[in-house]
Order: sequence, then C-alpha cells, then structure tokens
Amino acid sequence: MATSGSADLVIVANRLPVDRVTLPDGSPGWRRSPGGLVTAIEPIMRENDGTWIGWPGGTESGLEPFTDDGMDLIPMTMSAEEVEEHYEGFSNATLWPLYHDVVAKPEFHREWWDSYTAVNRRFAERAAEAAAEGATVWVHDYQMQLVPAMLRELRPDLRIGFFLHIPFPPTELFQQLPWRRQILEGLLGADLVGFQLSGAAQNFVRLVRQRVGHKTHRDVVYLPDGRTVRAAAFPISIDSRGFEELARTEEVEERATEIRAALGSPRKVFLGVDRLDYTKGIHARLRAFAELIEDGALDVEDAVFVQVATPSREQVEQYRILRDDIDRLVGRINGDLGKIGQPAISYFHASYPREEMAALFRAADIMVVTPYRDGMNLVAKEYVACRFENDGALVLSEFAGAAEELRQAWQINPYDINGMKSAFMEAYRADDRDLTRRMKAMRKQVMEHDVAAWAASFLQALNDTQASHAKIVRPAKQG
Ligand code: ADP
Ligand code: F6P
Repeated sequence: MATSGSADLVIVANRLPVDRVTLPDGSPGWRRSPGGLVTAIEPIMRENDGTWIGWPGGTESGLEPFTDDGMDLIPMTMSAEEVEEHYEGFSNATLWPLYHDVVAKPEFHREWWDSYTAVNRRFAERAAEAAAEGATVWVHDYQMQLVPAMLRELRPDLRIGFFLHIPFPPTELFQQLPWRRQILEGLLGADLVGFQLSGAAQNFVRLVRQRVGHKTHRDVVYLPDGRTVRAAAFPISIDSRGFEELARTEEVEERATEIRAALGSPRKVFLGVDRLDYTKGIHARLRAFAELIEDGALDVEDAVFVQVATPSREQVEQYRILRDDIDRLVGRINGDLGKIGQPAISYFHASYPREEMAALFRAADIMVVTPYRDGMNLVAKEYVACRFENDGALVLSEFAGAAEELRQAWQINPYDINGMKSAFMEAYRADDRDLTRRMKAMRKQVMEHDVAAWAASFLQALNDTQASHAKIVRPAKQG
C-alpha cells in the first residue's frame, strides 16, 4: 500500500480548476476557470481538507502544489507527446467521437492507448500519495477511466467514486473499442460509477455482464472478491442562483440592451453558444436559419442569429476542419442573404467572461441548442436560469441530456432540418402566455436541481456504498 497523505477528499480530473496564464507584468500566474463544478465542490473541499489533482494545460514541468483561495491544488505535468497522444489523441480523437454516437469517425492507435494508460497511472499514483487513510477520491470524466482500478490496487482502503460527464455509448458502439475490457475494468475500481442519464448506467451494467462476465442485478455489479459496484444516474446542473443573481445586476441588464441595439434592434434575436465542437450541430442550425430567410419566412431586418463559438481542441484535425466549415458557411450565408449593416449571422470565435454570457442570454429571445449528442448541455440550463422574467424560448435537441429535464423546450431532432425550421418558427411566433408557461416549468426544474444538489447527492450515494472501512465525507456547512 502506498503511504497516506492528509486529504480526506481528493478530486482527480484531467484539468485543474485554474489555468496557467501570463499576467499583465509578463510573469506566469494562475487564473481561476469559472466552471460550475468548482463552485459546487469548493465548499465540500474546504470542509474535508480537499485536494484537486489535474493538468493546468501546456507542457510546463516542475510546478509545485499550491493553495488557491483555500483549495489545495496539485498540478500534473504532461509532456508534448502526452498532450498529443493522451489528450488530443486517445481522449479527444478516440473516446470523444466514440462516446458521442460516432458523429466523427474515432481513430484507434495503440501508441495513444499506451500514453492514456501511462497518464492515468501517474494521476492514480499522485492521488494515492495525497489521500489520507480511508479518504474519498472522486475521479472525473472520460480522460481518467483507468484511474479507479489503478488507485484501488494501490490503496484498497479508499472510497472511490467516478462520474462520467459525457454520454456513455450504446453497447454496439462501445464494442468497437479494442481496449473495451480494460476500460470497463478500470471503471469497476470505483464503488460508485455515476452517469448523466439512467440509460447510460444501464448500458454500462449490461456491458459489464456481457464483456467482463460479472454477475449483475439492477444497478449493482457483484465482483468475484465480494465487492460491489453501483452504477446510477446523477444529472449534473449549474450554479442556478449564481447565474440568476448575475443576470439581475444592472451592469448585465445594460449590456444586454447595448447588445440588442448593436445588432440593429431586430424583432427577435436567435442565439447559439457552444464550444466549437462537431457534436454541437452548429452547421445544421445555421443552415436551418438561412433557409428560413431564403424561403421568406424570416427577414434579416426582423431576425438575427448570434453564434458564439469558443475555440476548443484546436490541434485536433476534426476541430480544424469544423472551424473552416463554419467560417465558410457563415461567409456564404452573409454574402448571399445579408444587407448593409445587417448580416444574417453575427459570428464570434471567442471565449467571454460570465457577465458577457449572462448579458447574451438576457439579450436573446430564442436560445438554440442543437447537439447531435451531448452528455447534459449546461448552456441550456444557464439560459433558463437567466430568464427570471419567465420569458424567452429554448429550442433543444432531444439528444442532449438536458432534454430529459427540460421537457417544455421546443424539442427537435438535429438531423431533421425541416423539423428544426418548424420549431424555430413556432418559437418565433409563440405568444407570451405560451412562453411564460414553458419557461416557468423549466425554471422550477433548474432552480430546484442545482450543481450543489448534484454534488451532494453523488457524495451521499458514495457514502452509502458498502466501503464501510472508509471515512464519511462531511457535507458543506450551510450559510
Ligand atoms: P461542454 O462541456 O461540451 O463544453 P456545456 O454546454 O455543458 O458543453 O458547457 C459549456 C460551458 O462553457 C458552459 O458553462 C458555457 O457557459 C461555457 N461557454 C460556452 N461557450 C462559451 C464562450 N464563448 N465563452 C465563455 N464561456 C462559454
Ligand atoms: O464536458 C466534457 C469536457 O471534456 C470536460 O471534461 C472539459 O472540462 C470540457 O469538456 C472542455 O474540454 P477540454 O478540457 O478538452 O478543453
């Protein structure tokens, strides 16, 4: 058994909650990434002497553990080769497309798998050093699926949880993976394996039965050594109240007014906000909007589409191809359909602060979220949280995890362009009563099920697993 550290709660994720940046004076420093996950986990980390292990981006080596705003952070180094093979390769060109319904063709390379294994082992070893006797370790996402079993081998005293933020594929697709058995066995190192949707948890249990041959009953896997592993759904959410409070500020309201004026005060603003990723269906939604203008159903003087796309994984070939595709499509649509001072599409390839995102959500009448497949899609929930006046319309793909909770959205099949066009027009023409009825119901769901409730329910379920030798994670103090 590896020697014990002092942390009662260890988070293991591919990324740290801070990015390495160059400060205004030119020196290197850290910038907090504003993700909801950190907001949810931070109070629990403080209460439990927590430590977060992750990669800060880049290839800088020799970074020492440090404390940021009360959180102990351990930066992990990746070599240029590991960034290419573990992160860009196996994580984002093998697993990402495979787990997202093969929207792009996954690539299988043995050296990428070797690198994924080596990086997972290093993260597991570091977690084994950091965790106190009987501590809880919570491992996150598809980049780290081997960590649970590697860690259990080093530290059988730990309580280990795993949560997958992206979809888990149907068995027919998962079986393509040459290393399918190793991945399943990696995940089975955990006491609790969490997914966004119950269908994903069922896929996992079925695969374990078929491929690894373990006995299963409902959501429990029975291992030969007497240990059990539970697989269940924990749909993730956002800091709902935080978003609403931000949206209510005068600054955000003023900025939203400014944005609408800068767009030429159209009757309706359509909005898309995504990482620039081929799973998000950006191409299809822009085409649908353009066709509505061509058909004469919409006019550029009445409606504008604002598309904000955050640069993402720019070294991966499929992402470069997508960027060129979208650039070309936007250019063509605006060239064909725009008027002077009135482009049909306002496109931004940029990342914005939370305040600007909230202002965009306030400025938009129709939020368009059309992924071909998405684990949850937090943007849909963020839009709902910002619409405190119970107005605004959400057009949402039925293939986003969020569709299970946001039933009152205009749900669409992103492969069906005509269906998408009809939904855009229904949302465009909807009367205030219909909008209010739908938004009220969606807001109730999002406000009552926030990210803090998600984290608490996962950790409670993990505490309830049979790992009775391990310590209990204390919930965060209220107020
Ligand atoms: P994914 O995890 O695949 O990126 P989600 O919709 O679940 O998709 O989460 C995306 C997160 O990134 C949201 O919190 C959203 O507000 C944020 N985001 C997306 N685009 C931008 C952008 N252009 N600028 C800043 N934040 C963005
Ligand atoms: O939601 C999936 C995910 O890969 C997260 O793990 C990650 O935080 C986010 O998307 C952004 O991806 P990346 O870390 O590759 O920039």
